[in-house]
Amino acid sequence: MKEKRRNGSKAIAPFKNKILQGDCLDILAGLPRESVNLIVTSPPYADNRKSSYEGVPIDGYVDWFLERSAQFQRVLRSDGSFILNVKERTVKGEKGTYILELVLALKDQGWRWTEEYIWHKKNSYPGKWPNRFRDAWERCLHFTKQKSFKMFQESVMVPTGDWAKGRLSRLSQVDRLRAESSAQNGFAKNVSNWVGRDAAYPTNVLHLATECKNRQHSAPFPVSLPAWFIKLFTEDGDIVLDPFIGAGTTAVACHQLDRQFIGIDSNPSYVALARSAVANLKRHPVQR
Ligand SMILES: C[S@@+](CC[C@H](N)C(=O)[O-])C[C@H]1O[C@@H](n2cnc3c(N)ncnc32)[C@H](O)[C@@H]1O
Repeated sequence: MKEKRRNGSKAIAPFKNKILQGDCLDILAGLPRESVNLIVTSPPYADNRKSSYEGVPIDGYVDWFLERSAQFQRVLRSDGSFILNVKERTVKGEKGTYILELVLALKDQGWRWTEEYIWHKKNSYPGKWPNRFRDAWERCLHFTKQKSFKMFQESVMVPTGDWAKGRLSRLSQVDRLRAESSAQNGFAKNVSNWVGRDAAYPTNVLHLATECKNRQHSAPFPVSLPAWFIKLFTEDGDIVLDPFIGAGTTAVACHQLDRQFIGIDSNPSYVALARSAVANLKRHPVQR
């Protein structure tokens, strides 16, 4: 009742933990404003895979996206984050600029471009092209609505690693001070802070293997990709939206991490695939 009053006639309950079929533009219009904590998604990469799902022409990509991101902005909470995993297409040996144009357009729409994470596809196998090498990374652009947002950095800490054994056993006087960077780049450091610690904060490069085997979708991201952002930007019970959910990867990550999800895809076959992934999870206990 309270939720209904806050959001007029729109309520979130019918959307929670569902995979919905349709254009996310239409479906999101029914969601209450400020109702989701995180959006993590990978939209069509323009007309890259138009033989397996509906593509979007490069020329109209920015306008197509902005219509939908206006809805993302409406439904995202003020302290939420929007992670956009995307990569521009290369046509006739030249890279498109539409993703760069999209970043500028999203800023005009009112989003803050807070960070750019790189997904390094660590199992990328070699190939030969006349003018370049194999593409082994993708962007995960991080947008927010305001400067301060929910972020739980401790949840993604990594083992400090072997570098610490040598480097921290020979501390100079300077290492014990909070020193300004010699490049004057605003980063201050105190190396001695890390003595005796088992875990350190990660970098903004995620080294994750792709998982295409037995997924029945031509472009799924690995479960570990949305999972990393879900841990970083949400708490137990929070709601995560993936408006282009494909095989249901984000829903699987949410289930494993005790978050709620809302998944949307326009393609009925992928909706069926995602729904069966979710049904499968319900049958099997979570292995955390
Ligand atoms: C790159 S794939 C997403 C893959 C997904 N991350 C996964 O792990 O399986 C993009 C998806 O967007 C869907 N799609 C395309 N246009 C859409 C639209 N307007 N609304 C919702 N889904 C759409 C496609 O059917 C496709 O499954």
